Amino acid sequence: MNRKVAVIGVGPSGITALKNLLDQGIDAVAFDRNQDVGGNWIYSEDESHSSVFETTHIISSKTLSQYEDFTFDEFDPETADYPSHDELRRYFQAYASKFNLYPFIRFGTLVKKCQWIDQKTWEITTEKDGNENVEIFTHLVVANGHHWKPRYPQYPGEFSGDFLHSHQFKKAAPFKDQRVLVIGGGNSACDVAVETSRVSSKTAISWRRGYRIVPKFIFGKPSDKVAEQSKWIPPKIRMFLNSILLRIIIGKNEVYGLRPPTEAFGATHPTINDELLHKIRHGKVKPRLDIKRFEGKKVIFEDGREEEFDTIIACTGYWLSHPFFEKDFIDYSKGPVPLYLKMFHPEFQNLYFIGMFQPLGCIWPGAELQSKLMAQELIGKWKRPSNLEELCQKEVKNPHYNQIDTPRHTITVDYHQFVKDLKKQLPKEYISKKPILNKKETVNNEVE
Ligand SMILES: Cc1cc2nc3c(=O)[nH]c(=O)nc-3n(C[C@H](O)[C@H](O)[C@H](O)COP(=O)(O)OP(=O)(O)OC[C@H]3O[C@@H](n4cnc5c(N)ncnc54)[C@H](O)[C@@H]3O)c2cc1C
Ligand SMILES: NC(=O)c1ccc[n+]([C@@H]2O[C@H](COP(=O)([O-])OP(=O)(O)OC[C@H]3O[C@@H](n4cnc5c(N)ncnc54)[C@H](OP(=O)(O)O)[C@@H]3O)[C@@H](O)[C@H]2O)c1
Repeated sequence: MNRKVAVIGVGPSGITALKNLLDQGIDAVAFDRNQDVGGNWIYSEDESHSSVFETTHIISSKTLSQYEDFTFDEFDPETADYPSHDELRRYFQAYASKFNLYPFIRFGTLVKKCQWIDQKTWEITTEKDGNENVEIFTHLVVANGHHWKPRYPQYPGEFSGDFLHSHQFKKAAPFKDQRVLVIGGGNSACDVAVETSRVSSKTAISWRRGYRIVPKFIFGKPSDKVAEQSKWIPPKIRMFLNSILLRIIIGKNEVYGLRPPTEAFGATHPTINDELLHKIRHGKVKPRLDIKRFEGKKVIFEDGREEEFDTIIACTGYWLSHPFFEKDFIDYSKGPVPLYLKMFHPEFQNLYFIGMFQPLGCIWPGAELQSKLMAQELIGKWKRPSNLEELCQKEVKNPHYNQIDTPRHTITVDYHQFVKDLKKQLPKEYISKKPILNKKETVNNEVE
């Protein structure tokens, strides 16, 4: 049987998966329901796969948010420290063009069902323009993203105003002169509150716990570059030192009327925002506690405060979702996620997950290294450990950070540790900047 690999998705993770497979002469094809490369970074005013909004800029800085095979300097040396969604979309599309990936991608194609047959066979059902097609592949690479299926909160009572999720938030303009309540303390919540506060009559932000707000710049440098200086220190100690530095720079949350953090730094996914604290101190965003219940347009908070709002925007995160698998085959939506290096399944050897981890940093540099390791295995230059099952359980039991048990914290990794762990498995010369030619003949694509 000839080896043939299917990749689901051509967002930042899927393109590097496809590139690194083709780079090793492996026969591969990628499917995406979108019409172009970029995934989450294809901003659209209508609801789509993407969850970015008009003004989104990334929160990890450019030199820690680039592929090693194609850096921002090679793309455009004038790229901002924190590129916008549009600069990123162009970067990902330039990557796909540079490495000649487009001929290997089937756009407008939804992967509906993936049926595992055996260790050499997948039956994949796709749909394009209403027509279904079933194809056999030997391997499956899942890179469908994990920030597109909204997770809604539940509260007693009923809210009679508009209730939406940050996935549906596209721009601030529709909220002009409205009373807006934003729920959450993650990056979406803080970004959305800042944006609506520019036009709303009132914006409040409800936190169910305290969070540390990390500025985008410290000492004039991107904060992740400053934090990188201490990457040799074990993550838990490093986080403790970071929390002290932050306290010196920002001060206590109470100064801003925000609830104080009760967890160690790193116990929740970090929130990086330069404007929220400024907006709070300028009276544009009002800090609020958790919601107790709704009564019409009235929101009753934990401390008994009652306040009316026209719109609530729940920035309460996303489900990990693989709708193309039967639920009794794979369902990671409630965790845990026992995968070695967040990519190798203990039982299904012809299945890979790429980009399905949440770093305290950027996703695609790690996805690039995962993709290289996958390709090394497929060409027989890397062998998975024989105690893979044990290693999967070890990863689940010994995460890089002790995080609080809420749904968003099932796939966290420390960026630097994860990159180090992956590089340890790769050959020295793993960077490959050559455009892909038609190299299918260069390796034996037969599956033994
Ligand atoms: C507002 C916002 C800001 C963010 N900022 C950052 C940041 O600063 N840094 C960072 O590292 N991460 C950030 N993220 C996380 C984001 O998930 C990653 O940046 C990145 O998009 C992950 O790439 P991916 O390829 O894994 O997934 P995605 O970008 O989500 O791409 C998945 C692709 O798979 C396709 N697809 C999915 N299912 C199917 C199917 N069944 N059939 C066919 N195609 C399918 C989709 O159409 C899409 O093109 C942010 C997320 C949000 C919501
Ligand atoms: N500018 C940017 O680059 C940017 C912007 C937005 C998002 N992102 C990224 O996108 C990803 C998703 O971020 P996100 O902010 O959308 O989601 P998230 O990180 O999952 O954060 C969700 C927030 O909502 C809270 N929450 C969840 N359920 C709740 C409930 N029932 N009641 C009250 N609060 C609840 C969570 O609290 P707990 O702390 O208790 O879990 C958390 O504060 C992250 O990787 C993030 O970094 C980046």
